[in-house]
Amino acid sequence: MTAALKIWHPFTQSHLDPEPLRVVRASGIYLYTDDDRKILDAISSWWVNLHGHCHPKISAAVAEQAQVLDHVLLAGFRHPKVETVATKLRKFLPPALEHIFFSDNGSTAVEVALKLAVQYWQNRGQSNKKEIVALEYAYHGDTVGAMSVSGDSGFTQPFDGLRFPVHRAHSAYCHRCPVGKTRATCSIECADALAKLLQERSDQIAAVIVEPLLQGAGGMIVHPVEFLQRIRLLTSKHDVLLIADEVLTGFGRCGAMFACELANVVPDLMCLSKGITGGFLPLGATVCTDAMQQEFMGEGKAFLHGHSYAGNPLACAAAVANLEIFETEDVFVRIKAITARHEMHLARLRSSSTIDDVRQIGTVAAIELKAEDPGYFSQLKPRLYRFFLEKGVLLRPLGNVIYVMPPYVITTEELDRVYSVIEEGVTTIPNR
Ligand SMILES: Cc1ncc(COP(=O)(O)O)c(C=O)c1O
Repeated sequence: MTAALKIWHPFTQSHLDPEPLRVVRASGIYLYTDDDRKILDAISSWWVNLHGHCHPKISAAVAEQAQVLDHVLLAGFRHPKVETVATKLRKFLPPALEHIFFSDNGSTAVEVALKLAVQYWQNRGQSNKKEIVALEYAYHGDTVGAMSVSGDSGFTQPFDGLRFPVHRAHSAYCHRCPVGKTRATCSIECADALAKLLQERSDQIAAVIVEPLLQGAGGMIVHPVEFLQRIRLLTSKHDVLLIADEVLTGFGRCGAMFACELANVVPDLMCLSKGITGGFLPLGATVCTDAMQQEFMGEGKAFLHGHSYAGNPLACAAAVANLEIFETEDVFVRIKAITARHEMHLARLRSSSTIDDVRQIGTVAAIELKAEDPGYFSQLKPRLYRFFLEKGVLLRPLGNVIYVMPPYVITTEELDRVYSVIEEGVTTIPNR
C-alpha cells in the first residue's frame, strides 16, 4: 500500500511542534479527539465559530442544500441562496453599502477590496491614486496583497521582495502609545502623522485599510472609537477610500453586528468572512457603496476578478442559516453576557504582578503577560499552549498575549473554567 501524503499543517514545523491532535467530532463549544479527549474551544477554531460547532440549524441547511445544488459558477449565473445572503446581509449592513462581491475566504475578501479601490480611481481617470495606507500591527491575511498591507513581521519577512510597498500609519495601541501619550488625556495624536500624509499625498493614495477597533493577529489590540472616527473624517476630507476589514470583527464579535457600528462609521468598502457562515464553510465577501460600483460601468471598466468557489451554494446555505439564527435567537443577549463576564474577570486580573495589560471588546478578551521576550515569538506561547491543552482548553496565545474568543453559546460556568485554567497557567509557567 502506498503511504499517504504527509499533511503540511499551517504555521507548523513538523519536526519541532507536537503531533497535531486528531479531532473526530465537535458539538457546541467542544472538540472531541480520537483518544477520547474533550477540548473546550475557547478561540472558536480560529475565530470562525459563532453559535457552537455543528449547530443543528446550520448542519441541516447545508445537508439540504447538498441535495439540491452543490455548486455553480457565479459568472453569468446566480442561485437562490446567494440571493438570500445578499438580502439578509443588507438588513444588517449600513444602508450605504449596497453591493456585494463574493469570494471564498478572508484574504480574498481583502484582495478584492484592494483591487476594487485601485481600479476605482483608475476608472475615474485618476490612475495616479494607487497607493495604500495600512496600520502597524495589522493582519489582513496571507495572500500576497493581504500580506503586503499586513504589518512587517517574521511572517512577512521571507516575502518582502514580493510585497508591494505601503504607507504605514500608527496603530492606536494605547498600552504602548506610539506618540507617548496616555489615553485619559490624549486627543488621538497617534493619527496626526496619517493626517499629514493624507494632506501631502492624497493625490497618490487610493485607500486606507484598517481592522476596525480590534487588531486581531497583531496582538488583540483594541482601539478607541475616536481613532476609527478620526480616520474616517480624514479619509473623507482627502478623498481617499476607507476599507474596513471586518473579517474578524464582524458578526457580533465586538458587541455589535459590525465593529464600525460601534463608532458610527460607514466605510467605503467592508471585508467579511470567518463568522459569515457561523464557522461552517469558507466564504468571503466584499461590500461597497453604489458610488464605487457605478465607476465600474462602461467599456473596459469591468472588475476582472473571480474565484472558482465564489458564492458557493453550500457556503451560502450556511450563511443564510447563520443570519437566521441572528434574526430569531437572542444572540446579542449571549454576547452581552460574555462581555460582562470578561469584564469581571479582567478587572480582577488587571492588578496581577505577571500581567502587563488587559484589553477587551465585546466577546474578545486579551491578557498581555510580562515577558522577557515579548512579541509573537515569545517562548511563553508554546509552554502556555501545551499547558492549556493538557487542561482540556484550546487557547492559542499570540506570543505573550493570551486571548479568549469563545463561541457565543459558552455558559458562564464554562467561561469561568477557561479563566481558572488561564490563571493556573499564568502562575505556573515562568515568564522567561
Ligand atoms: C482581520 C483579518 N483579515 C483577514 C484575515 C484572513 O482571513 P483568512 O484566514 O480566511 O484568509 C484574517 C484572519 O485571521 C483576519 O483576522
